[in-house]
Parts: sequence; structure tokens; C-alpha cells
Amino acid sequence: MRTFSSLTFLAALVLEDAIASPAQVPFTAELSKPRKLHGRFLHITDMHPDPYYTPKTSQSTACHRKKPKKKKQESLYYGTPYSECDSPFQLTNFTLDYLHDKWADEIDFVIWTGDNARHDNDRHVPRTPSEIYMLNREVAKKMRKHFSSKGIPVVPSLGNNDVWPHNILTPGPNSITNEFAQIWTSFIPFPYLQVFQRGAYYTVEVIPDEVAVISLNTMYFYDSNKVVSGCAFIEPNDPGNLQIDWVEVQLEMYRNRGMQVWMTGHVPPSADNYFPECYVRYVELSLRYQDTILGHLFGHMNVDHFFFLEAADLNIFPNLDSKTELKTESQSGFYKSILEEFSGLPKSPKMTDYAVVNVAPAVVPNPYVPAFRIFSYNITGGISNQEKPQIKKRKHGEHRTDRNHTASCESPEYRDTWQCHLDRPWNSDPSSPARTNQKWSPLGYAQYWMPKLGKADKKTPPQFELEYMTYPLELLHPAVAGPEASASGFVYPVPLPLLPESLRTPGVEKSKYAPYQMRDLTIPSWIRLGQRIADEKRRKLRKRFRKYMFLGGDEE
Ligand SMILES: *[C@@H]1O[C@H](CO)[C@@H](O)[C@H](O)[C@H]1NC(C)=O
Ligand SMILES: *[C@@H]1O[C@H](CO)[C@@H](O)[C@H](O)[C@H]1NC(C)=O
Ligand SMILES: *[C@@H]1O[C@H](CO)[C@@H](O)[C@H](O)[C@H]1NC(C)=O
Repeated sequence: MRTFSSLTFLAALVLEDAIASPAQVPFTAELSKPRKLHGRFLHITDMHPDPYYTPKTSQSTACHRKKPKKKKQESLYYGTPYSECDSPFQLTNFTLDYLHDKWADEIDFVIWTGDNARHDNDRHVPRTPSEIYMLNREVAKKMRKHFSSKGIPVVPSLGNNDVWPHNILTPGPNSITNEFAQIWTSFIPFPYLQVFQRGAYYTVEVIPDEVAVISLNTMYFYDSNKVVSGCAFIEPNDPGNLQIDWVEVQLEMYRNRGMQVWMTGHVPPSADNYFPECYVRYVELSLRYQDTILGHLFGHMNVDHFFFLEAADLNIFPNLDSKTELKTESQSGFYKSILEEFSGLPKSPKMTDYAVVNVAPAVVPNPYVPAFRIFSYNITGGISNQEKPQIKKRKHGEHRTDRNHTASCESPEYRDTWQCHLDRPWNSDPSSPARTNQKWSPLGYAQYWMPKLGKADKKTPPQFELEYMTYPLELLHPAVAGPEASASGFVYPVPLPLLPESLRTPGVEKSKYAPYQMRDLTIPSWIRLGQRIADEKRRKLRKRFRKYMFLGGDEE
């Protein structure tokens, strides 16, 4: 009875939201001109420009003032590596100009996951809303000039430091959502502006009719945001619930159109970061639409890592106070807790039960060094929607019956939680792009960093270098040389001039740049990597993974 009535209620909610949703039209005229695809996109995050940053000041003042006692404590012209200082404009400008000069002609769209204002780490100079907006406006202006103006869609999302006070965002519409609707007006497709003013989320068809990027406002899921109800089942109008209802409608619509979707946002969907009920809903939606979602890209942590959303996260463990206790960071730190998670992967996991979250490192050298990622994806396989006579409808998913909630869901403790009300069939398909390499499947990424930031000064600008990539070496070059290669439609995952010199010619067998040797970034490939890292005998691989997590620095 209870289940029935709440389901009806949910359906009504979804329906209401569907009606409130804007009609689907491809992106604005300027961006819907057919572009030649390169099969790559940029993921950049956490730039944190700081207008008070002053070279030759003390790190103990957030690099804002005072001469330091020791030279080692002194802030540097292009930013101070492994420090608690934010980015000087010299660094954010350098980074965006570099991306424009070297990469703008090589990528199809930009995923930009927030935090474009300084941290609130100086009690002498508190942040103000107008400063936060000013900083965001500056960065957005550069993004527009470098990418949007060339027809490259840019998809920003809101960070926890883009709001004032940090971490706090009330339900919209409010002054913050309204301000960002203006700052990002050229990035948000017009039909979504109204939804944006309410919730600061929207979606962009980065490849019209084929691939969309959903930009989430994770502030409504983030458990540090104390002014929302955290997707509580009993509060259907909580902004987190309204957002997930909206995402559900978008995913259903994209699925019906045979499209694929990247999920993006600032704070990654983990049990540590999200309110428990938001987490449960996010995991369930990720698995229910596994056949439509290409992957999940987030920032915020500044730590390079990946993790899994698992069907097991939806279980109720009646003997624990809360499921989150299972996954809470252990005393021994972040690296150890990730290893523990990977060690828990079964030998032969059921692929329907997993989604993968990729967290990219930050531009700000706080507390590590600047980095960004260039993903590549498959543009050669299969036929596109437009060429298909009729959009192939994906077959209907299986019903999940193995979740054993019956006993617990009778109890007052769980009765009114989402865990007891999520029993829709899942849309999983082993032949979908997230599971089998084909058109639109993610293939890999190359990560660039700035290891020698500490050596840069006014006369010697810093340099981005390749840190590592996920590809096996043999996939960097065509299998056959010469004209045959171009005839086969080979696409370089990394353009040759942007590879280190040692890798620009084929035939290299070993390289420190290729630790993972992943043939693609499908769910099975990530699970295999997780299992390999979990293997205690793989000391070298583990060491590399750990080094990448903290960009050569120490765990904070
Ligand atoms: C950064 O770039 C902007 C826009 O190009 C420019 O106005 C500003 O002066 C630059 N700042 C620095 C410190 O280079
Ligand atoms: C379901 O849960 C109950 C109580 O936790 C347990 O006794 C029962 O064996 C479980 N059933 C299955 C099929 O796992
Ligand atoms: C892209 O997908 C097709 C299958 O549709 C596959 O044959 C091809 O190898 C894939 N391309 C890459 C670079 O992996």
C-alpha cells in the first residue's frame, strides 16, 4: 500500500517535471553548425584564481602579504606548488592560453567542473559575493573567447567555492542562481535558462542528436550544504530531489532518442560527500541508465582517482547505523580507503552492478601541482543517429529482484527512505558504449601537469608536460603506416606534437607514461584496473597509482 502510493507520487512528480521541462531543441544555431569531430574533449577543474595573490609573500598568509622568514615559504610568480595558496592570474591565464594555443584545434567540447574563485582561507580578507562573481566572470570570459567563439561547446558546473558563503546554497531561484544564469548565459542553451534559475543545472547537446553533457549542481547533494534536506524521501520538494527528478526525465528522453550522456559536476557522488539519500538516488539512477551514460566526471577533491558506484550501495544493512559507515574514509587515509574499495571487487563482477566515477586533479597548486585531462572517445565505429533510418530503441531492462529489502522496509526506520522506493527496472545493455567499445565510447585520457612549477619565474614561464596516459603504447600510432592508415580512419588519441618526443614514433615498447595499458575506458576496463591495483603483488602499479593521486606530493 505504502509502496504503491509513493510510487504513484513519484510518477506524478516526474510527470510534473517533464511538463515543466523545456522542449528539446538542438543547441543554439551558432553551435549546431556541423563541426568536424576530433574525438577528444578537455576536462578542466578547480582553477581558484586569487586576486590577492602576491609573489614573494608568505605562504602562511595564503600568499597575500608579509615577507616569509624562510625563503622556502615564499610565494612564486606563477603559483606556489604543494602549498595552501590559490592561483595567481598569471597561472590561470597561462593555463587557458596554453589550452587555446595547443589544444583548441584538437578538441570537440570542454567540461569545466567549477571552483573559479579563491578559497575562504584568509580571515583578514574575507570573500564577498561580488568578488566571487567577478572572478567567475573573468574565467568565463576567457573560456568564451578561447573555445565558445570557435564553436566549441563549454559546459561549466557550479563549485562549492563559487557560492557565498562557501558550501551553502539555498533552493533557487536566488541571487546566486540568477547571477550565474547571467555569467554563463552563452554556455546554457536558452531553453534551459529557466530551469537553471531554479536549480543551476542544465544540459548541452555537445554533439547534436548524439551526445549530451548534463551539468549537475552538486551543491544540493553535498552534505556540507546545511540549508537543504539532502533528498529526504519525505521532502519531495527538496532541491536535491527536484534535481534528480529532472535528471531522470533528461536521461529517459535521451535514452528514447538513442543518445549518450556524460554526467558532470563539481563534488563527486560518493558516500563521503553526498547526503545518504542523495547518494542512494544518484547510484540508482546511474545504474538504471547504465546503457545511456558514458561516464561520470567530477572535480573538487584535487586528488586524481576513480571509484565505483555499486548496486551494493543500495542495500540496507540493518545492523549498522547507516550504510555510509561502510565506506567512510578509514583512519589510514584516502589512498588506503580506495585500495580497500578495489579489494572488495569480486572476481567476476556483474557488470550491471557498476558505474565508474572519474575525478580529475585541479589547476590550482593547492595542495599539489596544476593538471588537466584530455579524454579521447570513439568517433569511427558504427553509424550515427542521423544516418539511422529509425532510432534504435534500446531493449528494456531487467527487473531487479535480488535486493532484499522486504524485512527492513517494514520498519519505521527505513520505510520512508529512498532505499525502499527504488524498484524500477534497470536499463543495462552489454552492447552499450559504456560497456563495449564502439561509437562514443570513452577510449582513454592523457593527463598533463606542471611538475616544475617551483622553478618558473617571471622570465621563465612554466610548462605543461605529459604526466601519464591510460592508453597502451601500441594504440598511439596506426597499426599500418602511410596512406592505408588514413584510409582506415585512424584517429590519434593524442596528437603527435603533444606527445613527449620519445613517443612520437611507433615501435616504443616501454614507457613511464603508459602505466595502465587500458584499451578503452569502458566499465569492464575500469573494473580490471581496479582489480589489478588491488593485487598486492602489483607493487609497481600501486606505487604509480598512489603517486598520481597526489601528483607526486604527499597525501594531505
Ligand atoms: C589575464 O588575462 C586577462 C584577459 O586576457 C587580462 O585582462 C589580465 O590582465 C591577465 N592577467 C594577468 C595577471 O596576466
Ligand atoms: C532477507 O533478509 C532477511 C533478514 O535480514 C534474512 O533473514 C533473509 O535470509 C534474507 N533473504 C534473502 C533471500 O537473502
Ligand atoms: C571504435 O569502435 C569500433 C566498433 O564499433 C571498433 O572497431 C574500433 O576499434 C573502435 N575504435 C577505437 C579507436 O578503439
